[in-house]
Amino acid sequence: MTQHYDTLRAVIWQDNQLYLIDQRKLPQEHQLISLDNAQDTAKAIHDMVVRGAPAIGITAAYGVVLAARAAYQQSPDNWMVTIAKDMEILANSRPTAVNLCWALQRMQALFSQITGNPESVLLAAAQKIQAEDIAANYFMGELGAGFLPEKSCVLTHCNTGSLATGGYGTALGVIRNGYAGGKITHVYADETRPWLQGARLTAWELVQDNIPVTLIVEGAAATLMRQGNISWVIVGADRITANGDVANKIGTYSLAVLARYHGVKFMVVAPSSTLDAQLSDGSQIVIESRSQAEVLMMNGQAIAATGAQAWNPVFDVTPAELIDVIVTEKGAVEKPTTEKMQKLFIA
Ligand code: MRU
Repeated sequence: MTQHYDTLRAVIWQDNQLYLIDQRKLPQEHQLISLDNAQDTAKAIHDMVVRGAPAIGITAAYGVVLAARAAYQQSPDNWMVTIAKDMEILANSRPTAVNLCWALQRMQALFSQITGNPESVLLAAAQKIQAEDIAANYFMGELGAGFLPEKSCVLTHCNTGSLATGGYGTALGVIRNGYAGGKITHVYADETRPWLQGARLTAWELVQDNIPVTLIVEGAAATLMRQGNISWVIVGADRITANGDVANKIGTYSLAVLARYHGVKFMVVAPSSTLDAQLSDGSQIVIESRSQAEVLMMNGQAIAATGAQAWNPVFDVTPAELIDVIVTEKGAVEKPTTEKMQKLFIA
């Protein structure tokens, strides 16, 4: 039944090349860009052609295929050494989403088993990462929707749909499943300044699926919650630490504080590739800071007073104590603590 609500793929491998939907252009233009080397792939990740933690990881995995192709052409006997520079460039393309390094490590773990040309083995591995991500999203969609009461209105932040993942989505997967099953009647989406992932991408995905969506500016969330018709806030994650702290798009933490104050439940939905057992809590997460221009300008036009400065951290950390449930494909953890999170890290 939910298949109907799965409409697009942001990351596509076809004709020996990597194609990405250029998410900077949506929703006005639906353009694919093709990539045939790892450096351009890393630049596409950095420049937000593709974004969203799982989609970044999947793109990086295909980037390894392109890197291996080049390294093997250059030095068939020594490609595992030659590839190291491209691996590093890919790893440094964006810092906060752990899915990126998770995917690179998973690809790199195969190197020593490969004899001859590595491309087909690595391509199969990248495709498997994408297929597993989609399967995880369907599973989490069902699991997460199980927490929702009938006829809910929910609020989401940023974009966590097909565009941000291998396909279907994490938080948006729960919303797709919830809508298909009659649990959700209406979705509110934060516009998500400054990149407007909510306005440009989430609203676009939901409109295409005929799921009713109302856009709000972030500042309207408190009033929306006070009116009492939001039952859950449902968001994705870029990194979840051992104690259940969650890094996600800037503004997520504010929503969690508001939700607790207003008695609204707060759900985080993410595949296990977003879990980082190395970090004990969220204070250790590197938060990406992007250029001031992203805040001071819009569509190439200055929108702020000349001379004003801007501060542009693009993620924040929501403490575990503000989260009602973390949903992964390995199961759900309610009221996360380090002890309860163990079941996800060892499963
Ligand atoms: O800067 P972005 O657009 O890459 O940030 C994306 C988010 O914060 C998403 O909520 C997160 O990656 C989860 S996507 C399933």
